[in-house]
Amino acid sequence: MAGKAVLVTGGTGGIGKATAIGLVALGARVGITGRDPARTEAAAAGIRATTGSPAVDAFPADMSVQAGVRRLAAQVLDTYPQLDVLVNNAGGFWAHRHVTADGLEHTFALNHLAPFLLTSLLLDRLTANAPARILNVSSAAHTRGRIDFDDLQGERNYSGQRAYSQSKLANVMFTYELARRLHGRVALLPMRTVSDWLGEYSASHQNPTNKLLHWICVPPIVLSVMGLLWSIPVPRAFADLSPWLNWASLSAAAALLYYLALSWRLAAGVLVAFAVLLVLTRLLSALPWPLWLSSLAIFIVAWVGQFIGHAIEGRRPSFFKDLQFLLIGPLWLLAAAYRRLSLAY
Ligand SMILES: NC(=O)c1ccc[n+]([C@@H]2O[C@H](COP(=O)([O-])OP(=O)(O)OC[C@H]3O[C@@H](n4cnc5c(N)ncnc54)[C@H](OP(=O)(O)O)[C@@H]3O)[C@@H](O)[C@H]2O)c1
Repeated sequence: MAGKAVLVTGGTGGIGKATAIGLVALGARVGITGRDPARTEAAAAGIRATTGSPAVDAFPADMSVQAGVRRLAAQVLDTYPQLDVLVNNAGGFWAHRHVTADGLEHTFALNHLAPFLLTSLLLDRLTANAPARILNVSSAAHTRGRIDFDDLQGERNYSGQRAYSQSKLANVMFTYELARRLHGRVALLPMRTVSDWLGEYSASHQNPTNKLLHWICVPPIVLSVMGLLWSIPVPRAFADLSPWLNWASLSAAAALLYYLALSWRLAAGVLVAFAVLLVLTRLLSALPWPLWLSSLAIFIVAWVGQFIGHAIEGRRPSFFKDLQFLLIGPLWLLAAAYRRLSLAY
């Protein structure tokens, strides 16, 4: 993040402050906001002290008021000639209905209208430095949300939970719509980088025994998945062209394209590994029993090995994450091998 400028709204505490500390530690210059000037400056001083970096700016602003958001945007535009990331985080929950100076219900004003307005005011600066990122901090509460167009401000019937869930659903809808409108100009839902994936994989594979089990189990898992895919019948035309043209080699080619987008150096290593595994699959198919049977047996044994590793680690990824990790596991092994050989990726 060195050389990047980031604005984190609501950076005096909670998630925003933790985000700011993380980004400053990664080398970014970070601006934080908060309502009270003294508290915002104290939080900025705290982040400077924690990270040892002077690159923290305080922007006091009451964002529940639209004039406050406009003033904040003007100050940010003055201070940051380049703005790379906007983290719309400031938000809150109010059990009782309050109205802002603009006459708007507080939850809706702060949680949805403020990030909407701030993003609009900073958009030209962000898109001028594309690829920029905009992160809107929503909440799982959005799943319970419903946009009540007949009573957006909760004038007739207010419940803190309903207002909060509605505002967080508005965050999600705003994000999707903005992504659609800005397609290609700002990376709102950016493709994750290879270091993002490897970092996430490493975080849940720290225990040495779990790591060893993954070194042992990941290659057979990839081999067995290839064997299972190879076992799916292909159209006659494919088989006539080459015995190598099957669902295993086609899937490997598609996976390679994905790896290529992440890192061409690792993709080159994967190409060699896939070639070896495809040859091994062909050898397995020559055994007297069906290929799918040996593949399934290998898969079960290796998956159980991996499962034991996760139990030892005490951090089992969800089933969905495990499926994603099917693609990342081989990269993780290769990246470790590259590091040992002092090869860049
Ligand atoms: N905590 C959770 O469990 C959770 C779960 C899901 C999603 N979220 C979302 O994550 C975000 C941060 O939550 P959090 O728990 O970290 O909140 P928090 O600890 O209460 O911090 C809220 C931040 O927003 C700032 N803020 C509040 N009102 C403001 C205003 N009118 N103008 C400008 N800044 C204002 C606060 O600064 P000052 O008080 O200094 O003004 C503070 O820095 C919110 O959008 C929340 O909806 C939180």
